[in-house]
Amino acid sequence: MKKTLSIFLALGSISASVLFLPSACTKAKTPPALPEVTCNSTISFSTQIAPMIEENCAVCHGVGAGTSPVLSNHAEISANAEAIIQALRGTPQLMPQGGPALPDSLIQQFQCWLQQGRMQN
Ligand code: HEC
Repeated sequence: MKKTLSIFLALGSISASVLFLPSACTKAKTPPALPEVTCNSTISFSTQIAPMIEENCAVCHGVGAGTSPVLSNHAEISANAEAIIQALRGTPQLMPQGGPALPDSLIQQFQCWLQQGRMQN
């Protein structure tokens, strides 16, 4: 009787781990951690961040351009800052769409702006 019970328990834990496998796979898809960036100066939203988005993203993400997220002002860029950084680094897909990727110096600048508190300066 004891043996039957332990077989049931063993079968139970095997099927339980099979059931949990799919969630383990989902977890592996979380975006990669951002590399550390050293920021030597204060980034300006109005002279560095806004023009960078305007020049490279507005054609698709500007008001009326039709692509979500709309990135046309401080509030919108701020609210999407993490997704923007990931997209600039290619996750889930590289932005600007179709490439080429922005120079690393610009990507780091954006990340510094995020690290410095997404200032509207
Ligand atoms: C040529 C058009 C185009 C340009 C230029 C462009 N994007 Fe996009 N972007 C898209 C499209 C289309 C999607 C939606 C992709 C989808 O849902 O499959 C998107 C999605 C995104 C997303 C959401 C990420 C996601 O897929 O979950 C972010 C963030 C983003 N873009 C940021 C940017 C930034 C920042 C720039 C400028 C550096 C930029 N994009 C330039 C077309 C563009």
